[in-house]
Amino acid sequence: MTQVVLTEIHGKVGLIRINRPEALNALNNDVVDGIGAAIDAFEADENIGCIVLTGSEKAFAAGADIGFMKDFDYMHAYQTDFITRNWERIKTARKPVIAAVAGFALGGGCEMAMMCDMIFAADTAKFGQPEVRIGILPGAGGTQRLPRAIGKAKAMDMCLTARMMDAAEAEQAGLVARVIPAGQLLEETLKAAQTIAGFSLPVVMMIKESVNRAFESSLNEGLLFERRAFHAAFALEDQKEGMAAFAEKRKATFTNR
Ligand code: CAA
Repeated sequence: MTQVVLTEIHGKVGLIRINRPEALNALNNDVVDGIGAAIDAFEADENIGCIVLTGSEKAFAAGADIGFMKDFDYMHAYQTDFITRNWERIKTARKPVIAAVAGFALGGGCEMAMMCDMIFAADTAKFGQPEVRIGILPGAGGTQRLPRAIGKAKAMDMCLTARMMDAAEAEQAGLVARVIPAGQLLEETLKAAQTIAGFSLPVVMMIKESVNRAFESSLNEGLLFERRAFHAAFALEDQKEGMAAFAEKRKATFTNR
């Protein structure tokens, strides 16, 4: 049987590939559980400092698998806690997760990319929330994360008309961090991930937590959270090493302590 989720380790980076080419990487339980298991393994591996989630050249993921969902009734969706039960493992990852998106990122695919800490897009990427066309609404965070990322006007446009947004518009709107020529997407994303993984992991995790706090709190509460983490960083051996290395004009060697 084909493995629908593949993993590789590149230096200090864990790479997760969605691998259902026959269905444009549509997300079913096997895929979502496979991604969750890969994140569990990379989080537990102390040699990994950053995770990259990608698909194929043609599709990051064309959404939740419509065949898998089409006969759900309300009680099944509710009792099995559809989406919340397993999709949100990406959200709870403490190490940074970068989505490397080429081709279609639609519906649950776009939402899964948005659960990651940032999106690097190939110039072929197409983002969309076309659920309205099949009689449902975005259900994996699209109605909430999209307005936060690109504002209400464009979020409404995408969710209500089902139109797709290309990579250039997605970058201009703030949905993606970088647009990269398709042939270099993985190489460039892995390079950025290696840079992150070369820093102090506890500091990287504190930065991720602090930025995410900005979406959950008032400015003053967020600033207080940041300041506490900032003060705590002075307890790290990596802070002593980082500042000593700067003073001695050498590269810092972080030990994640
Ligand atoms: N679920 C199941 N199968 C899918 C799929 C999906 N979301 N998206 C594509 N596929 C399958 C197609 O059925 C097709 O399979 P067959 O060859 O067996 O017929 C195969 O992938 C290739 O797709 P197409 O022939 O349609 O390829 P295309 O290039 O002509 O079109 C596309 C590409 C525009 C992405 C089109 O496939 C499409 O519109 N897909 C559905 C997109 C969608 O509606 N996504 C949202 C799903 S709902 C959701 O995600 C809910 C949520 O919020 C969690």
